[in-house]
Amino acid sequence: APAGGVGDGKLTFKPVPPNTLDSFIVPNGYDHSVVIRWGDEVVPGAPTFKLHKQTARAQAQQFGYNNDFVGVLPLGRNRSLLVVNHEYTDENLMFPGFTDVDSLSVEQLKVAMAAHGMSVVELERVQGTGEWRPVKSGKRQYNRRVTASKTKFELTGPAAGSDWLKTAADPKGRTAIGTLNNCAGGVTPWGTVLSGEENFNQYFVGGDGAPEELKPKLARYGINTTDRYPGGNRKWDRADERFDLTQHPHEAHRFGWVVEIDPYDPESRPRKHTALGRFKHEGANVIVAKSGHVVAYMGDDERFDYLYKFVSEKKFKKGNSWRNREHNLTLLESGTLYVAKLNYTSADEIDGSGELPSDGAFNGRGRWIKLVSGTRSYVEGMTADEVLTFTRLAADQVGATKMDRPEDVEASLHTGKVYVALTNNSRRGVDSNPKADEANPRNANRHGHVLELVEKHGDNSAEKFTWSLPIVAGDPADPSTYFAGYDKTKVSPISCPDNLAFDATGNLWISTDGNGLGSNDGLFATPIEGPERGHLKQFLTVPTGAETCGPFITGDNRSVFVAVQHPGEVSGASVENPASNWPDGDYAKPGVVVTWRLDGGPIGS
Ligand code: FEO
Ligand code: CA
Ligand code: CA
Ligand code: CA
Repeated sequence: APAGGVGDGKLTFKPVPPNTLDSFIVPNGYDHSVVIRWGDEVVPGAPTFKLHKQTARAQAQQFGYNNDFVGVLPLGRNRSLLVVNHEYTDENLMFPGFTDVDSLSVEQLKVAMAAHGMSVVELERVQGTGEWRPVKSGKRQYNRRVTASKTKFELTGPAAGSDWLKTAADPKGRTAIGTLNNCAGGVTPWGTVLSGEENFNQYFVGGDGAPEELKPKLARYGINTTDRYPGGNRKWDRADERFDLTQHPHEAHRFGWVVEIDPYDPESRPRKHTALGRFKHEGANVIVAKSGHVVAYMGDDERFDYLYKFVSEKKFKKGNSWRNREHNLTLLESGTLYVAKLNYTSADEIDGSGELPSDGAFNGRGRWIKLVSGTRSYVEGMTADEVLTFTRLAADQVGATKMDRPEDVEASLHTGKVYVALTNNSRRGVDSNPKADEANPRNANRHGHVLELVEKHGDNSAEKFTWSLPIVAGDPADPSTYFAGYDKTKVSPISCPDNLAFDATGNLWISTDGNGLGSNDGLFATPIEGPERGHLKQFLTVPTGAETCGPFITGDNRSVFVAVQHPGEVSGASVENPASNWPDGDYAKPGVVVTWRLDGGPIGS
């Protein structure tokens, strides 16, 4: 492709070097500002945040904790809607005087529950720049908080109403309360936001008292079935008995779904789509296939878990009419769920060191294995309800490929090619765990890799694909790393890819979580087509203890949003003794940041 073609844009910014500074660092020629932080007003008229006097009522109107996914949706000229996930809470960094979970008051537990969920916030552009800030006056009718404790969700799709989802509070199995551990997500072509419920297991207690026949199903999702209070548990049962599986064994089944929220309709009830299966959903990203069906790509973020896709039964309707949108809002309610099986061209040559096989690439072919279509199960011995509610068990049965923690999975809307962040897997090849294979080529994989998947005939609803690994992460001086064959003396070190995004020209942006190279996490960008493919450079770094989430690049290519999640999350840190003073110079607060070019030019250049 010629210069300026799709995904091969030159990224000319000067990379930010690896560092351990307690600051948010951007390249020369760029500026940044904090858009919103924990405790800021979301619902108009929310009480002012008071660190020493937190209440659940106030928190349910304020910006929540540990922002992860960031979406920015258009709302007319110089206005937009910011939609953010609040994945989890760090009580030791939230509550002064914190000692342990048992010492938290019931009100504090309820504050933590209200600090989970999502926020919708109206933004305005600062004239003539790429900077955005919350609208501070007027009606702000779209501003909204979704929480773990109060918000009601409609369960949709084939498993809605099934026995597995019925509880004492909801004998019909159709209305779940709250959302938990919302990690990554995506913006749909019809202007809604998808959000993945990830590590929901940590909120439940009493698995030891669950019915015996249910225990293997709970255990496959990481729920402890031998101790009432497993280590690290949040003991939310003290605030709400539905988190006690001894009393309410089905409550856990109401989490682990993909949530869809319509930020343009503040009265709308968000939905949990059972047709997309239940696992530790990192997130979901949608592309409209050539056939018109919509395809959602999804990762299950656990060591040795799987890569999935959903293909809608109905087709996308173009155009913004009310009638088309009503139709498109139903697209994720029915369809076919697949899990990926990857085959290798030279598996026998993989020794787990990360050395390239003799054909010069980690690559191969693969197939999407059908698990369920509508209400028809393709998994022996499991009904459709069971396949959707216990999707991990179904995927185990069909021999899906065990991956190194699939996080964000996102198709480039420019090329239709799909990218998968495989963050790391320290257990690969260790003890009796599966050994390295061509798609997960390193044992004890500390730094992760990125997989590129090309669907047959470029049709995202196809059942066959080819794949390759453009990036095997780490210090470029480490011979086990790979940057699409690009000169490794010119790339930035990267470790633990987590979230993915594309800029307006199709370059791939990657944010990291858990940098195994000892420096702070950050955001990276690389062309993914043409001669610059693999020329990866660090665009920004986040403060001490934080991971970099989001990211989101606006359609005009002028603004990069990231979420700074869990700044100061360092062992032994507290409100009084913070490991990070970001962003205000006192105690650490998670927040969303926008970065833009000082001269108003396109980002990346
Ligand atoms: Fe919440 Fe898989 O990161
Ligand atoms: Ca993540
Ligand atoms: Ca993404
Ligand atoms: Ca992660």
